[in-house]
Amino acid sequence: MKEKLEQIRLAALERIAASEALETLNEIRVAYLGKKGELTGVLKGMRDVSAEERPRVGQMVNDTRAVIEEKLEERKARLAKKVREEKLKREVIDVTLPAKKNHVGHKHPNMIALEEVERIFVGMGYEVVEGPEVEYDYYNFEALNIPKGHPARDEQDTFYINDSILLRSQTSPVQVRTMEKGKLPIRMIAPGRVFRSDEVDATHSPSFHQIEGLVIDKNITFADLKGTLEEFARELFGEDTRVKFRPHHFPFTEPSAEVDVSCFKCHGKGCRFCKGSGWIEILGCGMVHPNVLRMCDIDPEEYSGFAFGVGLERIALLKYEIDDMRLLYENDIRFLKQF
Ligand code: DAH
Repeated sequence: MKEKLEQIRLAALERIAASEALETLNEIRVAYLGKKGELTGVLKGMRDVSAEERPRVGQMVNDTRAVIEEKLEERKARLAKKVREEKLKREVIDVTLPAKKNHVGHKHPNMIALEEVERIFVGMGYEVVEGPEVEYDYYNFEALNIPKGHPARDEQDTFYINDSILLRSQTSPVQVRTMEKGKLPIRMIAPGRVFRSDEVDATHSPSFHQIEGLVIDKNITFADLKGTLEEFARELFGEDTRVKFRPHHFPFTEPSAEVDVSCFKCHGKGCRFCKGSGWIEILGCGMVHPNVLRMCDIDPEEYSGFAFGVGLERIALLKYEIDDMRLLYENDIRFLKQF
């Protein structure tokens, strides 16, 4: 019996020492210590052992079991450690490898131009406000002195949602919304997206951006309008820029004008850029029409003001000498990166 136990012990320890996987250890445990295992087999043979021998043999079986268990645990711990080490080795991070390039976006030329325009007007004490892109006919037309049937409605091909709601065709409705609030004086600019049912080409898009301007106070005159827009043009296009006010018509201003700046490319001599005229049109403006003031509950006898509307894309195209508006909407990073 003793020899048999010794054999089992040696065989078991040998197999344990040779095992390379946790599953093998499990198999060994079952083979020796399990219900049908070899050691259990020996215990079953105990009934043939004499009563005096039994405690000693029992002790030997227990010792053998204890040794096998101890070695199994030892081996298990060692294998687990090995597995962990191999895993760590496999997962090691090489901090010297070059990092993946993170593609940082780039400011859109529209955005650069807008920030420049905002900087100039905020510097003159203007507030930047916003209005809705889906607008009432009332704000987009009626309150701006453009009643139903007025020919000026045909100048802007408007996207209607229903009879009274539309996609704003200009940022001018923000003038009305600001005046309606009743807080005077007003000095604001309102940048935003506008919509017109235009075909896409080098100078047109169904969706583009404008920056509206509005000043309302006592004793505001056309001289204030001229001084402000001259200063704006010089800051935007350079100190030696000359400005020309051409009489024009807008329903919501009287008198109205369009503003041209001297071509910053040829300084007025005439070139491809200004189509030979030496001048480039940049905005529309005028003194706020008394009808518009009245509709906003402002007394035209007491208050006056001026307004202007600038096309943002137009400014961006001019400033960065881009000759096709479509480039501004494609968002090709190779194009955007150049500004
Ligand atoms: N809303 C005009 C347009 O889209 C631009 C404009 C002209 C705005 C004169 C004004 C202004 O505020 O005074 O064509």
